[in-house]
Amino acid sequence: MEPLRFSAFCCGLLFVSAVSGATGFSPPYPGFGNTVCSYCPAQESTCSGSGTCNFTCTSSICQSAEDVCVSVWTKDGDNVTMESFCHNPAEPVEGVMLGDHGNSKCEMKERTGTRRPGTQLFICSCSSEECNNYVIFPDSDEYGKPEDPMGVPEPFYPSPNPKFTHMIAGDNGATKIPMVGPGGSIRMLCKFCDVRPTACINNGTCKSECEITSICENLGEVCVSVWQKKGDNVTINTFCHNPAEPVGGVMLGEHGHSKCEMKEMKRSKERRKEKTHNNATQEHEHEHELTYICSCTQEECNDHIIFTHDKEDKIDMDERVMFVTLVSLVPLLGLALLVIVSFYLYRVGLQRKLWESGKLKGRDFSDVHAMLTDDEHSDSSSTHANSLNHNTEPLPIELDGLVGKGRFAEVYKAKLKQGTSATGEPFQTVAIKVFSSDEYLSWKNEKDIFSDADLRHDNVLLFLTAEERKVDKQYWLVTAYHPLGNLQEYLTRQVLSWDDLMSLGSSMAEGVAHLHSERTLCGRPKVPLAHRDLKSSNILVRKDKDLTCCLCDFGLALRLDNTLSVDELANSGQVGTARYMAPEVLESRINLENTESFKQTDVYSMSLVLWEITSRCDAIGEVKEYEPPFGKVREHPCVESMKDSVLRDRGRPEMPSTWCNHPGIALVCGTIEECWDHDPEARLTAQCVAERFSEGFSETDDMDKLFEHVDSQEKIAVEDCSVSDEK
Ligand code: ADE
Repeated sequence: MEPLRFSAFCCGLLFVSAVSGATGFSPPYPGFGNTVCSYCPAQESTCSGSGTCNFTCTSSICQSAEDVCVSVWTKDGDNVTMESFCHNPAEPVEGVMLGDHGNSKCEMKERTGTRRPGTQLFICSCSSEECNNYVIFPDSDEYGKPEDPMGVPEPFYPSPNPKFTHMIAGDNGATKIPMVGPGGSIRMLCKFCDVRPTACINNGTCKSECEITSICENLGEVCVSVWQKKGDNVTINTFCHNPAEPVGGVMLGEHGHSKCEMKEMKRSKERRKEKTHNNATQEHEHEHELTYICSCTQEECNDHIIFTHDKEDKIDMDERVMFVTLVSLVPLLGLALLVIVSFYLYRVGLQRKLWESGKLKGRDFSDVHAMLTDDEHSDSSSTHANSLNHNTEPLPIELDGLVGKGRFAEVYKAKLKQGTSATGEPFQTVAIKVFSSDEYLSWKNEKDIFSDADLRHDNVLLFLTAEERKVDKQYWLVTAYHPLGNLQEYLTRQVLSWDDLMSLGSSMAEGVAHLHSERTLCGRPKVPLAHRDLKSSNILVRKDKDLTCCLCDFGLALRLDNTLSVDELANSGQVGTARYMAPEVLESRINLENTESFKQTDVYSMSLVLWEITSRCDAIGEVKEYEPPFGKVREHPCVESMKDSVLRDRGRPEMPSTWCNHPGIALVCGTIEECWDHDPEARLTAQCVAERFSEGFSETDDMDKLFEHVDSQEKIAVEDCSVSDEK
């Protein structure tokens, strides 16, 4: 880390510790698409300087996309310290340039730094997720060992920064969950900068200009800003603070405000006697200092500070309007509540009747899906009643086995001990995606995406509810469970028939088209969405009448609403899985002016999945073992090696000419080619692919119909689908 930035950060911490007694350490979360590193200030360590050493720090999303993870070990006499942080490798650490820093392991090298002579200094750097919390000293067996390709983690593309979460996840005005619940149950996001000069005057409103947003270290902490004027020196300081403790000797008082309204804390006009040069005593009246403080409990609320000077000002216009509106709305709200309660009781009664009459007994969760989606085609409102389980009691859920593990969470099969399953057991089977408290932001993004009822579709994983499991410090997403697992696992086990290819391809394209669509199935406007991490392991397989699938893992999804600025989109970075990244994503050249670009990158990824499905269909002739697109060279190819294949060589997965012996497959190949075109604008839309599938790709007489939007040159390309690696 740049020494300046780190020391500024530490100073901020020291200040907070000093005023609040807090010993916590809150890392900045300033950018996403960036590496996540372990982040500890220099502290005493038991690491001996040999073998390997594992330690626990806070996870932090690095400030800049270039940053790598660094750990520094020092020994000065008996004093051993360890420090971990993000660092721009173009800058020296301890006066030393890092050199090779692209490793996934943090291998310590002894360095001669700028410390006191006699101090032993070891530095390591690496660039995979939190790789700097496990360091390897040169005498370890692990040192210099070639990396195990299975062990090299997928390049890390963390989920959106808290700063952008609402914008990216689409703050469509729907309910935001408060960061601090009634009992101060969730950690706040606050601006967190050291004391710095400000142009704010103690009048009107003002911005803190602090770029660091931090997740508060402790539950119940609130956001605080302190404005101070000492002579001509005007400063502002932003931080998290436990309201039970004083700030600068003064208690905060009421602190549950949504806005940061400044109150004067101390105005001491100090009379001081000073000796003048001729020894005469003069009495000066010093305007010693002026301090204002505000606290609040909304995400980053201490960024926007408001100076109010008298009681009259305090009820600002917004609040007055709110008050009048609330008063006039009370009768209406009462009525609405009555209707909701009656409707709820009616539904509960109806459901009980259905259970009793046996209509719902003996159903598994896929049937609950059917039940919940019964009204899918009705024009329901877009707020999802079950987005968060607001009951104080957690759902009666018992986790069974682990069925999947992703970058941010683990997925478990589980028993929801309500109702009865198909086999008469007293539970429903569900899937639980479990996020640790460090992955709160990923959980929140996925929950917010899922909370839009307009996302509901047969080919999108059915979301049931989200829960904060306070006792276990976990965040859960409860969804339908699909026993056949993900598409990649399924293709590895099974060869497909032509009908399977048609139903899987069709349902996948329908799912993607639904995400991208600006209308629900019943024609109501909806916010389109880009998935941004489509791949066969993010698609679940379902077998009812046909073999179909549904899309899952919306942790990186982006709501494409018109309110997103180009800057916000640019900040969303290069996300996804390198193997499935479109050429323009690999070279970070997405056209941010047009939200269609994000859909076009999804279509590219979808084409690779279509290729995977086709490669395992017996209609192509001899079916080989399952291989992912671009082969098994590395379990998780990195962006650089994908750039070589996809950009430099313009390579695409091979489609041997023998596949074309089947006329339907030839047409599927043509569609795949049109979806992975190097030019994003030239790609088909997901809707168009879905239509082609619904028309069956069969050797129909009206083949021309399938081609009506393809010019004659493209037709030739489609008929000759032996494209191998060239395009
Ligand atoms: N893996 C990830 N999500 C799953 C789900 N909902 N059902 C089964 N396996 C899964």
